[in-house]
Amino acid sequence: MIKVGIIIASTRPGRVGDTVARWVHDVAVKHGGAEFELVDLKDAGLPHLDEPVPALMRQYSQPHTHRWAATVASFDAYVFVTPEYNRTFPGALKSAIDFVYAEWNNKAAGFVSYGINGGVLAVEHLRNVMGALGIATVSDQVALSLHNDFVDFTVFKPQAHQEDAVTGMLDAVIAWGGALKPLRND
Ligand SMILES: Cc1cc2nc3c(=O)[nH]c(=O)nc-3n(C[C@H](O)[C@H](O)[C@H](O)COP(=O)(O)O)c2cc1C
Repeated sequence: MIKVGIIIASTRPGRVGDTVARWVHDVAVKHGGAEFELVDLKDAGLPHLDEPVPALMRQYSQPHTHRWAATVASFDAYVFVTPEYNRTFPGALKSAIDFVYAEWNNKAAGFVSYGINGGVLAVEHLRNVMGALGIATVSDQVALSLHNDFVDFTVFKPQAHQEDAVTGMLDAVIAWGGALKPLRND
């Protein structure tokens, strides 16, 4: 069984990202096709990128980088749960991504986004970054609308069909995460 990390990209006080990610995790556990674990960037203890050498060289110098590398390496695939901030994904996520490199390679990823228009711009930008890391991104994605999947834009109340969307996205992430396994040096 592959292991999938569900990454909470929002770190701000008062965020809804943790609530959305817990819902994704609940749906994933019900799905049952993999092992799932929540990864909260807020708890990762990462400052803004402070490594002197680019991650590609794998010369990590900071204890927090080693801890984060071990976390990222422990998964076969990821589901990024991300808001849209100023038409892209949060800077905290970009910095966390940039800390390590090889640990991301040859894995699969899916996306759950939220925003006025479902956060789809955040995901489009994230897909581009995933390409640089050798992460295969699945087409199925979950776009949660602040208008239709939240009450008063803040209280998460997903429409019924969104659970099916999560399930479809997970099917693809699990299939691709498993298929890429021969390319990974464990
Ligand atoms: C700095 C900032 C910028 C935002 N920019 C956008 C945006 O470009 N598009 C959008 O749909 N929503 C935008 N929003 C609204 C967020 O989608 C909404 O506040 C969401 O709850 C943020 O996720 P979080 O609560 O998990 O941090 C923005 C919110 C913040 C805090």
